[in-house]
Amino acid sequence: MARRKLVYEGKAKILYEGPEPGTLVQYFKDDATAFNAEKKDVIDGKGVLNNRLSEFFMTGLQRIGVPTHFIKRLNMREQLIRQVEIIPLEVIVRNFAAGTMAKRLGLEEGTPLPRPIVEFSYKDDSLGDPLVPEEYIIAFGWATQQDMDDIVALALRVNDFMAGVMHGVGIKLVDFKIEIGRIWDNDFMRLIVADEISPDSCRLWDIETDRKLDKDVFRRDLGDLADAYTEVARRLGVLPKNTTPGPKPTLIN
Ligand code: TYD
Repeated sequence: MARRKLVYEGKAKILYEGPEPGTLVQYFKDDATAFNAEKKDVIDGKGVLNNRLSEFFMTGLQRIGVPTHFIKRLNMREQLIRQVEIIPLEVIVRNFAAGTMAKRLGLEEGTPLPRPIVEFSYKDDSLGDPLVPEEYIIAFGWATQQDMDDIVALALRVNDFMAGVMHGVGIKLVDFKIEIGRIWDNDFMRLIVADEISPDSCRLWDIETDRKLDKDVFRRDLGDLADAYTEVARRLGVLPKNTTPGPKPTLIN
């Protein structure tokens, strides 16, 4: 098979040219990074789990009418997606205070918020993805007021879906990040959910124990990241057959 053309390589994923115009192949790596890639490791099996989990969330969203870039899973680490023009924003939805919000406002992590809060960071690693008000986004032309209204509505629908699914398996959706892309059907522009939805970009706490089941396990050295993601996949019933990062083989003399 001819080598595929690489379109973009990010910290946790690679995009290749897809088989049809307007499509891409999204490959999930095992690399984990945090603090703007100052902390790095390779976590065996993370890519396989995130490919499955993102497929699970994206197809679930499509079933309730939320448009996403997902077309189909191709294999353990790859999925076919629609090519979009990514809006350069990290769209963050928070249900409970955590991370930078907890720090900024001096709130204890886990404090329930009066309502879901949607906020935006400008996607630029060299600047550390700074938080930006909607006014900046519109003034700098990254999105229009109409886009922003649509993005907030989309983000809240994703939040309701994700929070419900997670609650069903005993997990609290503390916060998450999505990215939004533009696609054109002839002259008609639409905004759809793109990138990935996985424990890399959510905060997920066990409802009973507050055990962290997301990338904070890696950021804060709280244990084995693959174990945490496997637990999320197991509860959701999306554990891939024969591909779980099980125990390492032991040598028997
Ligand atoms: P936030 O608390 O703003 O940042 P940090 O993860 O540095 O404490 O993150 C809120 C949620 O959004 C959290 O689940 C992580 C996710 N997120 C990303 O996945 N990527 C990003 O670039 C940002 C800013 C947040």
